[in-house]
Amino acid sequence: MRAHPAGPLHGTIQQPTAAGAPPSDLGALDPHVWPRTAQRIDGELHLGGRPVTELVREHGTPLFVLDEADFRGRAGDFASAFADADVHYASKAFLCGQVARWIADDGLHLDACSGNELSLALAAGFPAGRIALHGNNKSLVELQLAVDSGIGHIVLDSFDEIDRLVPLAEARVAAGGIPVPVLIRATVGIEAHTHEFIATAHEDQKFGFSLATGDALTAAVRVIREPALELTGLHSHIGSQIFDTAGFEAAAHRVVGLLAQVQQATGRLLGELNLGGGFGIAYLAEDDPVTPDDVATRLRAVVAAECAALGLPVPRLAVEPGRAIAGPGTVTLYEIGTIKPVRLGASGAPGTPLVRNYVSVDGGMSDNIRTALYDASYTCVLANRTSDAPPALCRVVGKHCESGDILVRDLWLPSDVQPGDLLAVAATGAYCWSMASNYNYLLKPPVVAVRDGAATEIVRRQTLSDVFALDAVLADRPAPSPAPSQPAPEHPVGAAS
Ligand code: LLP
Repeated sequence: MRAHPAGPLHGTIQQPTAAGAPPSDLGALDPHVWPRTAQRIDGELHLGGRPVTELVREHGTPLFVLDEADFRGRAGDFASAFADADVHYASKAFLCGQVARWIADDGLHLDACSGNELSLALAAGFPAGRIALHGNNKSLVELQLAVDSGIGHIVLDSFDEIDRLVPLAEARVAAGGIPVPVLIRATVGIEAHTHEFIATAHEDQKFGFSLATGDALTAAVRVIREPALELTGLHSHIGSQIFDTAGFEAAAHRVVGLLAQVQQATGRLLGELNLGGGFGIAYLAEDDPVTPDDVATRLRAVVAAECAALGLPVPRLAVEPGRAIAGPGTVTLYEIGTIKPVRLGASGAPGTPLVRNYVSVDGGMSDNIRTALYDASYTCVLANRTSDAPPALCRVVGKHCESGDILVRDLWLPSDVQPGDLLAVAATGAYCWSMASNYNYLLKPPVVAVRDGAATEIVRRQTLSDVFALDAVLADRPAPSPAPSQPAPEHPVGAAS
């Protein structure tokens, strides 16, 4: 248990070391974990055909490098595995105008979970009919935007939301428009996580209508009776970073049962079943995610079997992968600034003090909160070169004023890493940039898409002026920078400190 009350204990909590044995090759790029185009050429990491030192020279650090072939390849893998279904990219994982266009061009649907994600997708030209809007507290303004722009579905999440939506839908129908297509999000009583699923401890959360209490059925019946709404199907989402299909199969079993209940209660056959997202990815070499083909085969089979057992026609399936499309193809590049060997209380081999090197980089919890928030694990390598130096136990930390500002808790790096070297952290495409903050007024890094040797900045680096612009006092002040006669000290990549 790492949680503690904020206060004087901060920073004094001793963590066990979980680095395991050093790998035989510290610079190896496990294809399981790294983007599809990642390779080392003369020791240096290349992504999308571009050497990382060049990318850093052009765009600085910290830098998100997105391998376009990987991102679109994974989207395509889902689209072909689910060719007879709809694949919605869960855009909360990572969304910008370019990504919205790729997803649109590649024929997928898109999930937005806020009015602003919806606005971004629409502004990028994403076809409204292929967008679904999620959220447990959609505002009137968000619902109005969804209704006016004619999106494919609104996924209903509460009775209050139904009350809020009905007058908007009625106004659209009165003006000659079609009823608003909606899904009911059912809480099916399964909360799945990476390795296990729990079939009881799920009700105590904010999303959806409970199946167990009968709310999901009540909501479906209510919506079917509203002429301005068109209930097209049911939705379920059971968690994230899930490695096996058992939880999805259990959820499918329950939600098909709800389809049957709706039919019995109203005579209405619902034609769509959206089983949500949550398909896990490999952050570490030992992670073993399921493939889109496996997921598709198993879900299809379980839904077909359940429908056959209940005498229902098989509905059209939909899934909502976010992390499994966006996660693996992006790498974060950082420059090392300081290295501090810290002697640990525990000892290593007899007589040898165990030393952990705190390797500080120029980003941190503001560009990747997942380690601090979820205890997430990442793979990280020295990127600008390889080294034959013996392994050293390290912890990669950021530059925030917080001891919990850890990016990679335990890892082995070559013992000759030095300030100015570049580190690459793998699989940062999902929920890193999208959860980035300006803590300590650090600025959000840019995202550069690489493909066939070309690099395109698809999101530029935030500037201090961008941030000052929001401040009543500072809005029109230039951000101070070092005087030309006193240039900021530089650490050229690979230079000795
Ligand atoms: N559909 C719904 C209704 C969701 O709530 C989510 C994620 C997804 C699809 C996509 O799940 P994915 O395929 O990406 O696992 N910030 C956390 C993850 C939160 C996921 C929230 N919902 C993280 O960094 O792990």
